[in-house]
Amino acid sequence: MTGRVSIVGLGPGSAALVTPEVAAALAEATDVVGYGPYVARVSSRPGLVLHPSDNRVELERAAHALDLAMAGRRVVVVSSGDPGVFAMASALFEAIERSPHYLAVEVAVLPGITAMLAAAARIGAPLGHDFCAINLSDNLKPWPLIERRLRLAAQADFAMAFYNPRSASRPHQFSQVLDILRDECGDARLIMFARAVTTPDEQIHTTTLGEAEPDMADMRTVVLLGNGATRRLGRYVYTPRSARAG
Ligand SMILES: C[S@@+](CC[C@H](N)C(=O)[O-])C[C@H]1O[C@@H](n2cnc3c(N)ncnc32)[C@H](O)[C@@H]1O
Repeated sequence: MTGRVSIVGLGPGSAALVTPEVAAALAEATDVVGYGPYVARVSSRPGLVLHPSDNRVELERAAHALDLAMAGRRVVVVSSGDPGVFAMASALFEAIERSPHYLAVEVAVLPGITAMLAAAARIGAPLGHDFCAINLSDNLKPWPLIERRLRLAAQADFAMAFYNPRSASRPHQFSQVLDILRDECGDARLIMFARAVTTPDEQIHTTTLGEAEPDMADMRTVVLLGNGATRRLGRYVYTPRSARAG
């Protein structure tokens, strides 16, 4: 009998932000598959097999989960945040597309609270009007495409959320990102650095593009940029719900 794969989001870090639906899927699972640090967030118990794997092996991990399900196991694939945001849900469907016999597996995608929304909630309402999310890693897309999307989103006055802003293997690109944003939005635009949100290591810092430094971000940071109307209100930052024609 074919089993099932649930692709779940564990939220940004706090156990209080794991949804009851995800907790129930984990309670019924026979196997948990995922990147090591995410699998480490799941409590072990008798009868549950944990399968941690390295970073950047998403398709192999997805195929492993699907093979386990084909053998009748109840598999949960874990992502941080939401599984559909720069995470395992797309990788699983890519693996199915490559090997359509996996269509026999029942797949469920269970949402989680993504980093940008957890960060925005801590700060106030910086994403309260139109916004977009951009992954700044050029691992799966060319750098010129990232630059183009940044410029077009800035010209359209979107607020933005940046995932994977800076890593040891590409320390200089975030500096280029800040240069592009200053060029398009000016020095006064508000930018927020939210690190390890909802964990004991949480740090949140709001500044302007003129004052922003590349080392304010690392791979545990989601960066939010306001739109042209985003403003401070006491210790909060918010973006009004309305906009004038540009
Ligand atoms: C591979 S992406 C995964 C995103 C995840 N699926 C989500 O929905 O939040 C990893 C990036 O998410 C962001 N991120 C994940 N958890 C975070 C947290 N607790 N605080 C701040 N940023 C976080 C960082 O930008 C990190 O580099």
